[in-house]
Amino acid sequence: MTSPDLEQINAALATVDDPEIRRPITDLGMVDSVDVGDTGHVSVRVLLTVAGCPLKDTITRDVTAAVERVPGVTGVSLDLGVMSGDQRAGLQEQLRGGQAQKEIPFARPGSLTKVLAIASGKGGVGKSSVTVNLAAAMAKQGRRVGIVDADIYGHSVPAMLGIGDARPTQVEDMIMPVPALAASGEISVISIGMLKPRRDQVVAWRGPMLDRALVQMLSDVFWGDLDVLLLDLPPGTGDIAISLGQHLPNAEVIVVTTPQEAAAEVAERAGTMASMMHQRVVGVIENMSYLPCPHCAEAGVDHRLEVFGSGGGARVAATLSARFGYDVPVLAEVPLDLALREGGDSGTPIVEGLPETAAARALSDAATTLTGRGRGLAGMQLGLSPAGRR
Ligand SMILES: Nc1ncnc2c1ncn2[C@@H]1O[C@H](COP(=O)(O)OP(=O)(O)O)[C@@H](O)[C@H]1O
Ligand SMILES: [Mg+2]
Ligand SMILES: [Zn+2]
Repeated sequence: MTSPDLEQINAALATVDDPEIRRPITDLGMVDSVDVGDTGHVSVRVLLTVAGCPLKDTITRDVTAAVERVPGVTGVSLDLGVMSGDQRAGLQEQLRGGQAQKEIPFARPGSLTKVLAIASGKGGVGKSSVTVNLAAAMAKQGRRVGIVDADIYGHSVPAMLGIGDARPTQVEDMIMPVPALAASGEISVISIGMLKPRRDQVVAWRGPMLDRALVQMLSDVFWGDLDVLLLDLPPGTGDIAISLGQHLPNAEVIVVTTPQEAAAEVAERAGTMASMMHQRVVGVIENMSYLPCPHCAEAGVDHRLEVFGSGGGARVAATLSARFGYDVPVLAEVPLDLALREGGDSGTPIVEGLPETAAARALSDAATTLTGRGRGLAGMQLGLSPAGRR
């Protein structure tokens, strides 16, 4: 019998990512010691970033599984410790890339993260449902996705992703986003609701406070390398649009509306506001577009009940296209589906739970359209020489 090789054990440990930081635990200074006994028993000591880390079970499971797979290993015992203040400060510096000053990584020139802000004129139109389903669809497509839930009135994103009670881990003054596991892939989530000192505390968010909270969620949170960052904005055209315009001028905006006339009108206003802050409106998602008639569906006939009227999405898209002078397409018409609400209530987005439904397909297709257009052109290094100088 061969005794396990230390190098192979270290290689196995390097395959384990810290679930919050999403980088190998070996790179983060979290593996304190590895001892291989004569009989093939391996003892590993792992340092958590903070005591009582909510994800210690995940780390324990992943480390044990990885080491157990190394040939010759007969057993694994894992001892969990906690980083010292110095180690934490070192980690924080490492994560900031040696930068002492906090900054918004997505606003950095050359940032490759596509920033998509989900806006609506009013609440209740499905903005959060759209956000979590786009995120889940993009994660399934292999993108690294983050969500900032900035909706002060609702902050319903965590519950819709099944992490309703989670509080983020803090490493020094850096906040770790909470991982939500999509069917394949992970979504990093920070909600404005997580920043409240106490869950039951009622906070009257006003302009400057909201601005500070938004900046905190963008710059104090360790996001790592994201392909896409989605922001669930509060409904309306208020302070947050101004903050967003200032801090994330490269954000692109998606307007969510229902087919209803009145809802379409307020959605147009939200789109116009975004454009005034120099953000490009990349499309409109019409939600609750129709209810597939249950009787006709049984007979295989496509009969759509237009519960909330019709044409709102197309109208908003046409109005905004005319106003801005560029094409604002309708990205999706999402039908009413009981399963979509149930998915939100149970924490499993419909694109994961029931991907074959018309609602899930509409949202997945919109996700493909949005990411398929590539990352934000503004942040892309094209490597072309200027015209006429080749
Ligand atoms: N297409 C849909 N079919 C059925 N229920 C929906 C649909 N879209 C949203 N809902 C439900 O409507 C309610 C409001 O949606 P939500 O996403 O929270 O809206 P908003 O974020 O705009 O306030 C939620 O209970 C949600 O599950
Ligand atoms: Mg919401
Ligand atoms: Zn019918």
